[in-house]
Amino acid sequence: MVKISPSILSADFSRLCDELRRCERGGADIIHLDVMDGHFVPNITFGPVVIKSIRKCTKLPFEAHLMIQRPDKYAKNFIDAGSDILLVHLETKISLEDAIRKIKNYGVEVGIVLNPETPFEKAKKYLEKVNYLLIMSVHPGFAGQSFIESTLGKIREAREYIDKEGLNVKIEVDGGVKHHNAKKIIEAGADILVAASAIFRGNVEDNIKKFKSL
Ligand code: DX5
Ligand code: ZN
Repeated sequence: MVKISPSILSADFSRLCDELRRCERGGADIIHLDVMDGHFVPNITFGPVVIKSIRKCTKLPFEAHLMIQRPDKYAKNFIDAGSDILLVHLETKISLEDAIRKIKNYGVEVGIVLNPETPFEKAKKYLEKVNYLLIMSVHPGFAGQSFIESTLGKIREAREYIDKEGLNVKIEVDGGVKHHNAKKIIEAGADILVAASAIFRGNVEDNIKKFKSL
């Protein structure tokens, strides 16, 4: 069954604990935390202080999607705040090899993230070392954008390669994931769907259950 990772970016930030409990009741598998620094992407969200304060609201694993220029420099802060998984963009200027090693040495899981314009080919050399491959299906920075259809080809390519090589990497898809397009994203090969607006607009529990029934 596909796993669902609600992104709190579209949640009510004045009531985050309630929102997280709704996610639990709906059957969410992971909580997706969109961290933005205003440099790597043209938006600013939240950081370790907020993550630490909502850590007590749920036992669900936290994945921090780090849309920041220096994920290597701040990795430990996000882990200390209670993140279980760190997702690092391939497009940052840091050494990804070093960042992956560093994060794994802290004892948490790690994933790499590809922007829509980054070809899957570039991810191949890291896949043996990571737990997740997150494929962005919108340009990172904002919730509520439309799914970029050409991403489906990239998901299929990743699925085929991961299966062929027998790699233990879960494919996540993030951006514009809605009830109406989830089926084709799953068919293309996604293991985990990330969604913000499709979950937090309306009834959170029902929205998650609807995804899980697909
Ligand atoms: C975009 C974020 C996504 C975003 C998804 O930069 O990484 O996680 O919150 O929002 P929706 O599901 O509304 O496209
Ligand atoms: Zn995200």
